[in-house]
Amino acid sequence: MAQLPKHFLWGGALAANQFEGGYNQGGKGLSVIDVMTAGTHHQPRQITQNIDSNHYYPNHEGIDFYHRYQEDIALFADMHLKCLRTSIAWTRIFPNGDEATPNEEGLRFYDNVIDELLKHHIEPVITLSHFEMPLHLAQHYGGFRNRKVVEAFVKFAEVVFKRYKNKVKYWVTFNEINNQMDTHNPIFLWTNAGVLLEAHENHEEVLYQVAHHQLIASALAVKVGKTINPEFKIGNMISHIPIYPYSCHPKDIMEAEINNRLRFFFPDVQVRGYYPNYAKKMFTKKHIDIGWLEGDEAILAQGTVDFIGFSYYMSTTVKHANTTRNAYNKIYGSLPTSIDNPYVEKSDWGWAIDPIGLRYTLNTLYNRYQIPLFIVENGLGAIDELDENGDIHDDYRIDYLKQHIEATIQAVDDDGVEVMGYTPWGIIDSVSFTTGEMKKRYGLIHVDRDNSGHGTLKRTKKKSFYWYKNVIDSNGENLG
Ligand code: BG6
Repeated sequence: MAQLPKHFLWGGALAANQFEGGYNQGGKGLSVIDVMTAGTHHQPRQITQNIDSNHYYPNHEGIDFYHRYQEDIALFADMHLKCLRTSIAWTRIFPNGDEATPNEEGLRFYDNVIDELLKHHIEPVITLSHFEMPLHLAQHYGGFRNRKVVEAFVKFAEVVFKRYKNKVKYWVTFNEINNQMDTHNPIFLWTNAGVLLEAHENHEEVLYQVAHHQLIASALAVKVGKTINPEFKIGNMISHIPIYPYSCHPKDIMEAEINNRLRFFFPDVQVRGYYPNYAKKMFTKKHIDIGWLEGDEAILAQGTVDFIGFSYYMSTTVKHANTTRNAYNKIYGSLPTSIDNPYVEKSDWGWAIDPIGLRYTLNTLYNRYQIPLFIVENGLGAIDELDENGDIHDDYRIDYLKQHIEATIQAVDDDGVEVMGYTPWGIIDSVSFTTGEMKKRYGLIHVDRDNSGHGTLKRTKKKSFYWYKNVIDSNGENLG
């Protein structure tokens, strides 16, 4: 029988901005996502810069975890989760980001949440930055364009590291640090870095300057964290969408190889502690000044991560000289030369469903870096219907998760990859990041709320809830 490690961290993943709500309570300041409207699959979310009463902002109330955390954590405990990955909203701790002292009420909220998790023997896995940068830092400092924001981030990290040094062991610095390089939709760069590109600028240069500042911020946070508690395990987090060549044409192979650097650029620095040669070459050839300061070399070298956290939802395929610009090119994670992969199905939102791609990813990342991997997001965004009894038979979600868990087990058991855990995204329904919809549901627990914010917020266990509980109890042996 295939085996996973005994202490495998089975859990669920969430982010403060998508499920907490209480956007202006407990002294919380506005974050970059608080000025993002709802969108749809076909209509992108807008960034309004302030709150405009003509718009609806779904993250403001989320699913109201802020007031229901005890009830929700009891449900997670009932599912037998061993860990919960969530974030600490930066704006609850530093409402504007540049205050001298933290907001005690915000810290008290997380004291309560973390204590409640520990009471139920659920290990907290905390992301420091998951689309929650204070709006003030974006508007007055230019977000991560500005090195001062590095200091603000490290100060925030230090405060929470100290507060939870005996309660939280697993930390993640920046969520999907690489997705901001995808500029087809401004929300990625805005939410990750608090930056909007100006038409007249050299976009590539700005992107790499911002990236450099975040890499420095991540490394400094790791260093500070280790001084506070050397037992901390601090990881990075990337969105990994493997890029396949469309054919065995050597030009397709090269197209995929070169594009895959977009996936590896951040972990190359965060794991190895220095910039890879392909990046240095590119900076020189394109005259890109990343804003390197004396001492950065040591910072990067001293702040390498303990594990790689990554999200895996799909793969993408590229074809050299592909000029067919169609809707597919605009799917999140796709590239200008992306093309439909005829061998995989797609979700209702056009994301390729490819469990083998997860085994492939685990092998690729492990063989490249040889440090433990943590699948901190994976899941299926789908429309759920309640039957006449109010039950949800989400067999499609069970199928999706089952196939991805099987792929993980193969990677561990057959390929020898070190995997720390698996936390499916949106363990309870929450607001979709890319579209702001509620109807794009990932949860194993249903929440009665619609795209316009109507509904009772009642929680209902889906069929997948019971299925996952069995998976956890059998450490992955009973996949149904
Ligand atoms: C990742 C994010 O991009 O994917 C999450 O880290 C997000 O915040 C998840 O919710 C799924 O994306 P979406 O747009 O379907 O919610």
